[in-house]
Amino acid sequence: MEPKDPELLDKIRQQFDSAPYPRIPLEQSPKEDYQSLYIHNLVTPYYLRNQKVISTEGKVILDAGCGSGYKSLVLAEANPGARIVGIDISEESVKLAQQRLEYHGFTNCEFHVLKIEDLPKLGLEFDYVNADEVLYLLPDIVAGLKAMQAVLKPAGIIRSNLHCAFQRADYFRAQKMFELIGLMDESPNEVAIELARETLKSLKDAVLVKQQTQNQRMDSNEGMVANCLLVGDKGFTIPDLFNALRMADLEFISMVNWRYWELTDLFKSMDDLPAFLAIGLAEASTQEKLYLYELLHPINRLLDFWCGHPKVAQPLTEISTWTDTDWHHVQVHLHPQVGQEKAREQLVECLNTHRPFVISQYVQLPALTSINLESIQAASLLPLWDGPQPFSVLVDRWQKIQPFHPLTLEPTTHVIAFKQMKALLIGIEAFLYAFLEHSPEKSQEF
Ligand SMILES: C[S@@+](CC[C@H](N)C(=O)[O-])C[C@H]1O[C@@H](n2cnc3c(N)ncnc32)[C@H](O)[C@@H]1O
Repeated sequence: MEPKDPELLDKIRQQFDSAPYPRIPLEQSPKEDYQSLYIHNLVTPYYLRNQKVISTEGKVILDAGCGSGYKSLVLAEANPGARIVGIDISEESVKLAQQRLEYHGFTNCEFHVLKIEDLPKLGLEFDYVNADEVLYLLPDIVAGLKAMQAVLKPAGIIRSNLHCAFQRADYFRAQKMFELIGLMDESPNEVAIELARETLKSLKDAVLVKQQTQNQRMDSNEGMVANCLLVGDKGFTIPDLFNALRMADLEFISMVNWRYWELTDLFKSMDDLPAFLAIGLAEASTQEKLYLYELLHPINRLLDFWCGHPKVAQPLTEISTWTDTDWHHVQVHLHPQVGQEKAREQLVECLNTHRPFVISQYVQLPALTSINLESIQAASLLPLWDGPQPFSVLVDRWQKIQPFHPLTLEPTTHVIAFKQMKALLIGIEAFLYAFLEHSPEKSQEF
């Protein structure tokens, strides 16, 4: 489909040809960028949707609007054995992306100059589509989502995001103001950036557009262009997002940073709400709860979401409702990032020095504070670094590690060990440090 405004597309292309985004040095590795690795790991949304753990081997991943390829590199690092395909309208960006993956030794990848709207022309289908920081630039987000939907495998997942209209209102005002005074007629060059900076400097500090847009990011040209002067930038609300998904025949799965959309975090006490509100919240849909959060507390710059074809999700059972028999069929996996060798070494060191193990350091996103495990609790999980384990193996190990109650010296029976291990795993699954697969069979593949 042709964009409604070819001139705008050209302006956007020029903007990113002259300043490919992000401007991260080619040699910079994301191996320890745990937050990015977590977001780009397709095991996470697949588990959120299906309570199943998949292998990334052989999966085909699209980075739509790949820019200079840093996220494509993160996708390659986070999903071992996957093939990475990147597309972008900016030829300069595509060249850089290709070079970046080559530099880091990834050969199972290809990059093309192509519009998202033209994705079906590629003739490929994907297990995962990452369209980061690009959807809000498209003239028609539904057309973009439809194009991605058309190349998504039946069980595939799309991750994309829109700018939040409320959180980013100050930048939208600044963009309109710079448009009005003629600084956004062309794609922003050094002169326009400098003029914009001087304009803001000339304002009194108390003037709201200056007060609310001036921060450290604006010291760099990239920060100015990505915020105050971003051509094609637009803001959206939760209802806009859900309407667009419906029109593109896509189903919402989850927010990517779901831990920062928790409505219950905003109230002093959930037990003390006005009755009409408590009843309303109990009956509210996911869309309504997210919208309420956005209206009450728009702290998230992005409406960053996972979605997929409708009616693919397998019915999930609340872990808290599992019976003891269910638990006998649970296979416990570590999140791939917690399962890395470096974390095992750290855990062994904690055991030897009797220090708590900071499990949250490897999966940073959903934890608001750091989450520590007592070293003996963490010791009970050690076999998980050799691979997934049946729940019963961990229970037996826990019983050996903690044979007596430390206070009463009563023996730890199997029943007690079962209960304690269950509590530990429910606690760490809530942050997705571990995955609990409720099935005696091997996990199903896409
Ligand atoms: C802000 S950058 C984001 C780059 C990368 N996804 C990231 O998050 O690091 C937006 C990118 O989207 C590309 N882009 C904009 N409109 C596009 C379209 N219709 N089709 C494909 N790429 C597009 C731009 O050229 C630019 O490289």
